[in-house]
Amino acid sequence: MDKLVIQGGRPLTGRITVGGSKNTALPLMAASLLADGPSTIHNIPVLQDVFTFSNVIRVTGARVTYSPDDDPSTPESMVIDASDVHFPEAPYELVKKMRASFYMLGALLGRCGKAKVSLPGGCAWGPRPVDLHIKGIEALGAEVREEAGYVIAEAPAGGLPGGRFTMEPSSVGATVNILLAAVTANGESVIENAAAEPDVVVFGNMLQAMGAKIDGLGTSTLTIQGVETLNPVEFSNCPDRIELGTYMIAAALATPAGETFRIDSTNADHLGDDFRQRFAETGVPVTYGDGFVEVEGVDAIQPVDIVTAPYPGFPTDLQAQWTVMMSQAEGPSTVRDTVYTDRFKHVPELRRLGAQLRVDGDTVHVNGKPNQTLSGAIVMSTDLRASVSLVLAGMVAEGRTDVLRVYHLDRGYEKLEHKLQRAGIEIERESYDENHPEG
Ligand code: UD1
Repeated sequence: MDKLVIQGGRPLTGRITVGGSKNTALPLMAASLLADGPSTIHNIPVLQDVFTFSNVIRVTGARVTYSPDDDPSTPESMVIDASDVHFPEAPYELVKKMRASFYMLGALLGRCGKAKVSLPGGCAWGPRPVDLHIKGIEALGAEVREEAGYVIAEAPAGGLPGGRFTMEPSSVGATVNILLAAVTANGESVIENAAAEPDVVVFGNMLQAMGAKIDGLGTSTLTIQGVETLNPVEFSNCPDRIELGTYMIAAALATPAGETFRIDSTNADHLGDDFRQRFAETGVPVTYGDGFVEVEGVDAIQPVDIVTAPYPGFPTDLQAQWTVMMSQAEGPSTVRDTVYTDRFKHVPELRRLGAQLRVDGDTVHVNGKPNQTLSGAIVMSTDLRASVSLVLAGMVAEGRTDVLRVYHLDRGYEKLEHKLQRAGIEIERESYDENHPEG
């Protein structure tokens, strides 16, 4: 297995480039299944989740061509030729590796009129149900049954009629799945309390480019007029907003006071107002430019409480990283997650590095400086965002930190150690034996 070994205390200098959005790439890949022909998607990040989803797509008979090279400055392109989609199934062996494989439910229902998709298994944090995906598809008129761990959905003879669905809570994944099925339904569909995340909007833009009729993208009500067929397209993925937010936090933590760190290939609007507002309150100066963000290092970070919420609220995918930043702030603060109320697997690991954190229900109480100086230790990745928070903590901890099980991190951060190395951080990937992680 691989681990990342970090020597803490090195300054972050120069610049770093954000890759294509993971959480947008996956819906875009699913969308390409709806057209009878080859679609090309640019700026697909080189990530394990992308390779996993490519394999999920290949099972259906569609052809996926993706040969990324090692130069992170080149946006990578993927061709999905969905001329032949004859096997409308997503097997357990692949779906268990990544929940987003469940997007095959809507994609295959939309393309083939039927889908057999394994229920996703357990997840590293909390219950992450798919009830809204299933109820939404049913509301469009599909017949859905569960059999031996699989969800089987079928459109009635003559095709999906379309329908109206109100989701509670708002769900990114369910909105994507319902849209995938609704765009080729016979009639009109309406999704109320739909997700307005940029990932959904950009995905909806690709569907529109393919010929879909969707109104209300970016609002809570989506109205879809079904069309008979969609066309293959060429489309560009957006930059990863969570990667941007992570690097802004890294810059606040490790840029020397008075120096500027630059983050390229960005779309800062996608961060949402709340993150930008809270970041400003930390007293760390930021400049939002056209396609870049500059962060200035400071002597003192001010403590700021955050509460996660759907877009444009504070992203749950940035709360673990924020917790690390607050551990270095000049006083106490709270980090509350209302989207995933027990997403705190990183907390015991950060405590091993000396962070003073206490979990109470859906809230982490952070005791910031001057009480906290982190010191290096061996820590364990438990999920994607938790693992990057450990890397951030390792960057500011005294001495050496070993972050084990980095396969979690590889699911969503493209070439992280190479990017950080180029920006002055001492970080290396090493393989290790799970029974002797120190060896
Ligand atoms: C996506 C992101 C993930 C992010 C999350 C919230 C991808 C691949 N993943 O996950 O990184 O953390 O959005 O921004 O894009 N819910 C239900 N029933 C359902 C579905 C969801 O109750 O059928 C609830 C969830 O438990 C959660 C809330 O809805 O409390 C939001 O989850 P959702 O937006 O669906 O998250 P994902 O799409 O799985």
